[in-house]
Amino acid sequence: MAVHVVRYTPRTGSRTARLLEHAIAQLDPAPVVTDLATTLPPLFDTTRVDGYVARNYGGIEPAAETAAALAPMDRYVEQLRAADRIILATPMYNFGLPAAVKAWFDAVIQRDRTWTVRDGAYEGWLTGHRALLITTSSGQYEDGPGSYDLLTPTVRQLFGFMGFAGVDVVAGQGTAAPAEVVDRRMAQARAEIDRVIAAWKSEAPTSRAQPAR
Ligand SMILES: Cc1cc2nc3c(=O)[nH]c(=O)nc-3n(C[C@H](O)[C@H](O)[C@H](O)COP(=O)(O)O)c2cc1C
Repeated sequence: MAVHVVRYTPRTGSRTARLLEHAIAQLDPAPVVTDLATTLPPLFDTTRVDGYVARNYGGIEPAAETAAALAPMDRYVEQLRAADRIILATPMYNFGLPAAVKAWFDAVIQRDRTWTVRDGAYEGWLTGHRALLITTSSGQYEDGPGSYDLLTPTVRQLFGFMGFAGVDVVAGQGTAAPAEVVDRRMAQARAEIDRVIAAWKSEAPTSRAQPAR
């Protein structure tokens, strides 16, 4: 099991970070960590989006300057492909993903690197991958259509688009409640994390992504 951690937990005293540390402590060897708060991910400016479309849709190798602009995005892809278990740790911001986390997804969801189109249908390539989303929010949200929680369905959809075999969600919700209530919810979240990681450890090794062309 090769675990890659993608974290965005910028707040001092982050509860999401504490849950993540609880997960990391159970992993041996220690996972590779991409910390999006320490180094913010690049965005699609004109150079990057034109270079990406020309390369990944048109097969045109980018000029050196464009390749350099795309390089940090491509590094995220390689890190993602090298692992088969991903832990994404992020708080909810404005009912959805913080911009830095969306930028990471925009970087890794690359045609012919993590997904393709075959016979007119989308095909995710990371079929041996599974993800654990660790998130916290001050509000509490119902599942399903009409929910104000846009974060969980987005994460499920984006990992699913890349072919992930499953996404487990541990959501420490209601962090604005009285301390004893929050403590109870965080303990419950830690127990859910324990169950997911134990299940990962007990699973047989899975196949890796197909090679990029
Ligand atoms: C910029 C910002 C936006 C937020 N938006 C929401 C929100 O839309 N819904 C919600 O329930 N909590 C929201 N919160 C609260 C956080 O999700 C919540 O406090 C979370 O537990 C913080 O995680 P952290 O302790 O890891 O920083 C927001 C917090 C910040 C700083």
